[in-house]
Amino acid sequence: MDARTEHTRRRWNRMAAYREHGERFQTPAMRRTREILCAGARGETLEVAVGTGRNLPHYPPQVRLTAIDLSPEMLGRARERAEELGMAARFLEGDARKLDFPDRSFDTVLCTLAMCAVPDQFGALSEMYRVLVPGGRLLMVDHVEYARFPGRLVERRRENLRRLPREVAVEAGFEVGHHDRLFLGLVERVVAHRP
Ligand SMILES: C[S@@+](CC[C@H](N)C(=O)[O-])C[C@H]1O[C@@H](n2cnc3c(N)ncnc32)[C@H](O)[C@@H]1O
Repeated sequence: MDARTEHTRRRWNRMAAYREHGERFQTPAMRRTREILCAGARGETLEVAVGTGRNLPHYPPQVRLTAIDLSPEMLGRARERAEELGMAARFLEGDARKLDFPDRSFDTVLCTLAMCAVPDQFGALSEMYRVLVPGGRLLMVDHVEYARFPGRLVERRRENLRRLPREVAVEAGFEVGHHDRLFLGLVERVVAHRP
């Protein structure tokens, strides 16, 4: 693991406890967005950057879930949540930019509010494409780059430059079926598939 990735991993390990406490500040709109997105998952499903597992309660029961995250602390909390929910899922340490799975091994890939934390979004989306079967679904919600003042000033100071999730998905080869903006336009929801 390179020094920058190690640094990112340590930072998210420290954040794991705060993220858990932040749970109660999650808006009903965000919870509903997770519900709707997860309802679209089918069959073998991979959640990339699962965090503390906020999406777990919303998956349909038939889904066979594998979840990865860079941070073992985050994964530990997600694992505990799955146990509380009585949910069978695999939790593995992994980097979104180099998924440790064979080509065409999942029917669905889901990722929420995480690509904005990954330096190489195109690399990560290309990996999601690779591990999906043809016809497989990408379900994603993420922050967009803030193009207007004063958000633009914040954007310039960010470690990872954000992009428009839908545009990166198209570059990686996906066909976008649906996209819309939520939360005053700050977040984009994308439903796409591998042709
Ligand atoms: C803002 S949290 C989002 C967590 C979760 N998806 C959610 O919706 O609550 C970002 C997550 O991305 C993970 N992460 C950051 N860089 C990553 C990478 N390169 N590969 C996998 N996970 C990564 C962090 O450890 C953290 O759990």
